[in-house]
Amino acid sequence: MAQAKREQWGSKIGFILAAAGSAIGLGNIWKFPYITGQYGGAAFILIYLICTAIIGLPVLMAEVLIGRTTQKNPVGAFKKLSEGSKFWTAIGGMGVAAGFIILSYYAVVAGWALGYIYQAASGVFYEFSKPEVAGQYFNSLISDTVWNVGYFVLFMALTMGVVYSGVKNGIERGSKIMMPVLFLLLIILVIRGVTLEGASAGIKYFLHPDWSHVTGEAILAAMGQSFFTLSLGMGAMLTYGSYMSRKENLPSSAVSIVTLDTLIALLAGLAIFTGVFATGLSPKAGPGLIFHTLPVVFTKMPGGYAFSILFFVLLTIAALTSSISLLEVITAYFIDEKGWSRHRAVIVFGGLTTLFGLPSAFSYNLMGDFRIFGLNFFDSVDFLAANILLPVGGFFISVFVAYYWGYKKALPALRDGAENLFEKYPWVITGWKILLKYFAPVLIFLVFLNSIGILKLIADIL
Ligand code: TRP
Repeated sequence: MAQAKREQWGSKIGFILAAAGSAIGLGNIWKFPYITGQYGGAAFILIYLICTAIIGLPVLMAEVLIGRTTQKNPVGAFKKLSEGSKFWTAIGGMGVAAGFIILSYYAVVAGWALGYIYQAASGVFYEFSKPEVAGQYFNSLISDTVWNVGYFVLFMALTMGVVYSGVKNGIERGSKIMMPVLFLLLIILVIRGVTLEGASAGIKYFLHPDWSHVTGEAILAAMGQSFFTLSLGMGAMLTYGSYMSRKENLPSSAVSIVTLDTLIALLAGLAIFTGVFATGLSPKAGPGLIFHTLPVVFTKMPGGYAFSILFFVLLTIAALTSSISLLEVITAYFIDEKGWSRHRAVIVFGGLTTLFGLPSAFSYNLMGDFRIFGLNFFDSVDFLAANILLPVGGFFISVFVAYYWGYKKALPALRDGAENLFEKYPWVITGWKILLKYFAPVLIFLVFLNSIGILKLIADIL
């Protein structure tokens, strides 16, 4: 069959911005600040930084490398490198399935962010005297089926629109516009935050390590977070890597992606905690930090009305550049393996993901009483994807490169475009080999045992 030439990124910066866009999402702006708040601020951040350097970066390099070497989607990539092994092909398939599942509920939360742009603009936040009231209002919105489903569908349509336009004209172009806007908005919010009266308490909280909160649980949470925030474990970075030219320097691109992702998470934390402390609210609100605490924070700061709108625009953009990477994995699979056109893949699977996302959107209204092992539908799919499929996927990606495909073949592939680095700084490569072979699989396995509750079980028995 005469196949159209596979698409590629137009430039190195295009790839970096798209991949950083995938990485930077709700995980950075919503989750990172709230878990930092729960686990004691700076001490947690330090551990998170170490985890990112010793697991996140090496696994990211491995994923991008598999993609770049094969120029294929996760299924095709594993099939090719394993010469048709059913097991490894299934690992790729698990990634595509995980992309489908994650997108279905990620877009529900993204829809809330989108809906909150309008809420912020409506001025309704000024009616909230304290976070509890804002929280009640938030609950009443998400229990409104029309509101919840409406914004979810709208967000999915945005995601589909970008992916429909292609790798270069859709994803790359979109990222080149959205990422600088995101950065600018965040800088504006950070400046607002640190110039508030009383902001120093927030900065202090962010910079002063409180080691008493650093438990085994905090360390595992930090590892899980560095994994999720870098979009690892399901082939999103693999797929983006598959549009990368072999002439580009892969390790240096990976370092740029990790740096941008980390920087944005830190800036988001700084913007949020300065605001929270300056207005005398609690940093420990957990998942409600953004939708319960922040609306009240904004009403208490000068110019809060405008900053609240900017914040939710920022959150929506961050989510959008991530959701397109999730849909692209599924799309690439149907294009490469099934010979579909991009347009058909996007419409069919964007549509199916939307359908599959409905029970997640209904988890706070129509299906409020539905439970799987005590979790509502939304929390169940989140658990399945983030706690099971991603760690399992990440574990096998590192095992695949370090043991199965092997460094004998992986190193020459990594070397393409990075000849200089190999010659001048061979220790970087040695470091990568060791971390990927001995550290990443073991640590990811521990995170996995912890997240399915086995470590706690063992601790209880002991
Ligand atoms: N990294 C994104 C965030 O921080 C979420 C995300 C996008 C993701 N694609 C992914 C997570 C693939 C895991 C796998 O919000």
